[in-house]
Amino acid sequence: MSTKEVEKKSNGGNPFQRLNQQLADIAPGLDPIIMTIGEPRHEPPSYVVEVLEENKDGFRKYPAIRGTDEFRAAIGKWLTNRFNLSEDLDPDKSIIPLNGSREGLVFGCICARDYLQKDSKPAVILPNPFYHSYGAGAHIAGADEILLPEPADGVLPDLDAIDPSLLDRTVAFYFASPANPQGTVAPMEYWQKLIKLARKHNFMLFADECYSEIYRQTPPTGILEAAQSIDGTLKNVVTFNSLSKRSNLPGARCGFAAGDPDFIQFFANFRNLAAPQVPMPIQALAVRAFGDEEHVIENRRLYNEKYDAAEEMLSPLFGPVRKDGGFFLWLDVSRWGSSTLVAEKLWREVGVKALPGSYIASDMPDGSNPGENYIRLALVGTLESSKESFRRILDSLE
Ligand SMILES: Cc1ncc(COP(=O)(O)O)c(C=O)c1O
Repeated sequence: MSTKEVEKKSNGGNPFQRLNQQLADIAPGLDPIIMTIGEPRHEPPSYVVEVLEENKDGFRKYPAIRGTDEFRAAIGKWLTNRFNLSEDLDPDKSIIPLNGSREGLVFGCICARDYLQKDSKPAVILPNPFYHSYGAGAHIAGADEILLPEPADGVLPDLDAIDPSLLDRTVAFYFASPANPQGTVAPMEYWQKLIKLARKHNFMLFADECYSEIYRQTPPTGILEAAQSIDGTLKNVVTFNSLSKRSNLPGARCGFAAGDPDFIQFFANFRNLAAPQVPMPIQALAVRAFGDEEHVIENRRLYNEKYDAAEEMLSPLFGPVRKDGGFFLWLDVSRWGSSTLVAEKLWREVGVKALPGSYIASDMPDGSNPGENYIRLALVGTLESSKESFRRILDSLE
């Protein structure tokens, strides 16, 4: 295979590389404003270096796969406070550190397949559009990938419409709240319904909650509190979260999975053979950051300022653009053409790099693509650069 062919094959699933290839020969119309990757750019907490320095001896040791006692206790305390959990959450049994939520979301899928040992061909259900790693999980697990689109922007999928025989062979069901890219937040009743399905059909429900702390007004309900509200247990549910969005530390690669103690034990055994452990100084940083809400409050304030500006400037053209959670704008641009054409136009005319919605969604069996009408803009830059991008988008499209 030639280098070009290898590149083409391996980049097919990465939306950012696909976009770079699409725009490679097009000069930006103005100084570029990059709004594609959801990589936080607000300041991380002030104590990062101090904590790493204090704990640097930890780099001399291989860390335990289950993490330090302090790490599990700190995450347990944070989860309990944030989601009003009962004392039943045992951090030593229900929590495991991850190198960011992404690797856990992928490895978790293989574990769900092996843990559940279903007789028929495994299926994995994922939202559409979706975070590309869910697809990688389904692929590596050798499972059928079943796509579940929102019926309309901001409207959660109809769970009653899912074929029960499909749920019977499902091993993992990915669900993000707040959703990326739409920012939709699942209310308590929706979570409860989904958890009851997971238990009835015995599949693992993987809640991607890495945007749980990036919300406008109301803290999103979490899967663990919904699970406990049904019968006090965490059976069949796992939440994935990390320092990346909450604390603006995507480069620390530190997160956790928490939930069903039996599954977490199975996951830990598998990870002990296959996955990297989290360095202890990084775990110490997580202990400090999950014990500190101040920087998270400031983080939300900065995002909310940008949503206020977006609402004021863009809603005359697009209608309401504010989202309940997350830090993306998800704009319907179908009046001006397909998502790829509009992304190209914005780059060529005004230097705004937006992600075509179709690159983070898959084609449905009927050929439609639920991201086709949208572009995604990550509001990770400054307020000023965000406003500048809105002005330019209006110049280009109005
Ligand atoms: C929806 C979603 N899930 C998971 C991740 C992975 O985040 P991390 O591995 O940094 O925790 C991201 C990162 O952009 C994301 O957008």
